[in-house]
Amino acid sequence: MPHQIIIQPSGHVLTVESGETILEAALREGFSLPYGCRNGSCGICKGKIIQGTVDYGRHNEETLTADEKQVGKALFCCASPLTDLVIECHEISATKDIEIKTLPCRVHKLELVAPDVMVISLKLPTNQRLQFLAGQYIDILLKDGKRRSFSLANAPHDDEYLELHARNYPGGVFTEHVFTNMKVKDMLRFTGPLGSFFLRDTPEECSIIFLASGTGFAPIKSILEHVFHQEGGRHRKRNMTLYWGARTKSDLYLADLADKWQREHDNFTFIPVLSEPLPSDNWQGRTGLVHQAVMHDFLSLEMHQVYACGVPVMVKAAYHDFITQCHLPRDAFFSDVFTPSTSNP
Ligand SMILES: Cc1cc2nc3c(=O)[nH]c(=O)nc-3n(C[C@H](O)[C@H](O)[C@H](O)COP(=O)(O)OP(=O)(O)OC[C@H]3O[C@@H](n4cnc5c(N)ncnc54)[C@H](O)[C@@H]3O)c2cc1C
Ligand code: FES
Repeated sequence: MPHQIIIQPSGHVLTVESGETILEAALREGFSLPYGCRNGSCGICKGKIIQGTVDYGRHNEETLTADEKQVGKALFCCASPLTDLVIECHEISATKDIEIKTLPCRVHKLELVAPDVMVISLKLPTNQRLQFLAGQYIDILLKDGKRRSFSLANAPHDDEYLELHARNYPGGVFTEHVFTNMKVKDMLRFTGPLGSFFLRDTPEECSIIFLASGTGFAPIKSILEHVFHQEGGRHRKRNMTLYWGARTKSDLYLADLADKWQREHDNFTFIPVLSEPLPSDNWQGRTGLVHQAVMHDFLSLEMHQVYACGVPVMVKAAYHDFITQCHLPRDAFFSDVFTPSTSNP
């Protein structure tokens, strides 16, 4: 039987379906409660039950002691409500609230999805999960102390494996390794989550435009899968359009997935744009520069938010042209620029 929960001090209200933990329901409805392992070991999700009763679920007795239960504490990743509840906990409203960790991980799967794009699935050690906001990235730590940034392509609720979309840069130290020597079960280390490319709250009437070039699709996939997962969440009614630009058809390596989202969600539109289609692509769709396709479709972007991700030249051109020619407010443009990591601090 579903139960209602009021979160204090925010006053947010959510419904927990039967079989769900408090944390699962909160994440599904778009409320970011803190968590680490999601299996009752780390204690990061600990909060207070102010009113009502819970089934504490399976957890480590050292992580939540009998004394703590006496004073109303519970682990929200394990606890399910037995009645309606009022709970108290700190909600994450900004990236500064999320702990940045350095973790080891193993390569779980390598999938070549286009001639020069590899999808890498990473498995964290047992009892470790990475909390992040959809759209953020991690830095892979190389042996010589250098770092390579990669956006997380999986959504935060679907965090058993971390998913990266790596493009092969000719002569690239890390990506050449990925495409030639990397094997399943290899160990890597990374730091994260990093970055501020995540979905902001918008007024009801505001529409969202996602703009991706190449593997810039990765963080947008994370954001969209998270929004679609939060059926009753804050962004469910927004009109969202994804413009995904690439040179040739095979560079749109997950176009089938974006097509599927379009079929399943009537507030979502997918517009692929090719700049150099091959004759063998038999391309009937849009051509040219991806940000110019947006400008062709929207004379004014006044009531929009734009989330752009990918190569610097595309993001810079979009920022300049949308603001100077399409009335996009400066504070409504959010971006992650895939600059060569060698220039990163
Ligand atoms: C915040 C952030 C997120 C990123 N997310 C992703 C992602 O999800 N997927 C992804 O494929 N890449 C992403 N990148 C780029 C990525 O971090 C690396 O730059 C890229 O993988 C190349 O690393 P490398 O070691 O193979 O190449 P390097 O050895 O660093 O460089 C080899 C050659 O390639 C050129 N080069 C390297 N990177 C780029 C680039 N980004 N654009 C143009 N030329 C380049 C260099 O100038 C050099 O000539 C991201 C970058 C940033 C800053
Ligand atoms: S998230 Fe680790 S104990 Fe709940």
